[in-house]
Amino acid sequence: MSVNVKVGLIGAFDMLKFKNMSKVREKAIQAAPANEITADYAVNNNAKALHPDYQKLVISRIVDHPAAGAKTFVFESADEKPLAYFRAGQYLSLKLKIAESAVSRPYSISSAPKDALAGRYELTVRTNPGGFAADVLLSEAKAGDIVYASAPQGNFYYEELRDPKNIVALAGGSGITPFLSMARAIADGTEDFNLTILFGSRTEEQILFRGELAELTRNDKINVVHVLSDEEKPGYEHGFITAELVKKYAPEEYSLFICGPEAMYRFLEGELDKLALPRKNVRRELMGVTKNVAADPAFPESARGASFTVTVRQGPRETAVAASAEEPILVALERAGLTVPSRCRSGECGWCRSKVVSGEYYAPAAHENRRYADRTTGNIHPCVTFPLSDMVLEVPGEYTGE
Ligand code: FES
Repeated sequence: MSVNVKVGLIGAFDMLKFKNMSKVREKAIQAAPANEITADYAVNNNAKALHPDYQKLVISRIVDHPAAGAKTFVFESADEKPLAYFRAGQYLSLKLKIAESAVSRPYSISSAPKDALAGRYELTVRTNPGGFAADVLLSEAKAGDIVYASAPQGNFYYEELRDPKNIVALAGGSGITPFLSMARAIADGTEDFNLTILFGSRTEEQILFRGELAELTRNDKINVVHVLSDEEKPGYEHGFITAELVKKYAPEEYSLFICGPEAMYRFLEGELDKLALPRKNVRRELMGVTKNVAADPAFPESARGASFTVTVRQGPRETAVAASAEEPILVALERAGLTVPSRCRSGECGWCRSKVVSGEYYAPAAHENRRYADRTTGNIHPCVTFPLSDMVLEVPGEYTGE
């Protein structure tokens, strides 16, 4: 079928201009001096302030929560640059040097966004059995220590274009931190939505921020229901957070936000089906990668206990790294002292995206967030990918903050 397009005189003139555009641009480029552009654009400055490469922070204070096995670290800017603003629910990725390893760990910000404008972030870290970085932070970090952090990251926040006015938050242990930030933001008027928190703890004594949460419920947009797994007490729900319990406290229309340990996510998988919520109304905070990948039904039997060599190409440098099939590739690279970009460590942010030159690997379906183009061109997220043979990997470099 042919289409007749009538082009008037002005249209023809426009087309001619369009045709010559690349020549005109080329001429202008050739005529321009080869000086660095020094102009200061407000939009660029705002983008840099909101999304700095890294923030140099100093620990100004540490608050102990001994019964919960946790500490709150209060950070201020260490170089007088303003702290990047954030949405309540976002996290910072801390860069830590532990022995010979350069590792990063994401922690939800528990302070209110307004506190960032006043030059302060708070992160609450809880002891993590079998963990590595959290326990080093808890036992060794002290006031005055310098820590490099990412810009605030993540999509775990209330979005009025997507969410109804009601949020039901399911929190376990230190998973309360993003919701504490949200509650503080509601209380100071930064955010405007209704927040019902179902907060699971083992015992009353182990409830993190119990006093402050009670204080925050004086605001009628905030409701907190404590659920104790190991204790029965008047005024508390007992057991685990189930679909039945969510139904008991949830309003008619709501989004469900979940943040807690891996065991809680696993338990809730079955419960969520009973709630039949639209997918867009369920959000999980970073899940981390499973600690026991060999238990995945799809994990190849032959790879159990195996170890391989991952050859890492970073720019002109090539490093051979020993890697266990049951450990994410990112962990092996960090252990070898390589500086590798990462933020979420959950397969979500794409920061660690690397190109597989050769080799086999296993990427658990629960963490499959790669774009179609990446899946079909052999790009992986090493934070949630496990080697199944010797591999050659092209890994991007990382800003070290030093
Ligand atoms: S660190 Fe975010 S995808 Fe790997």
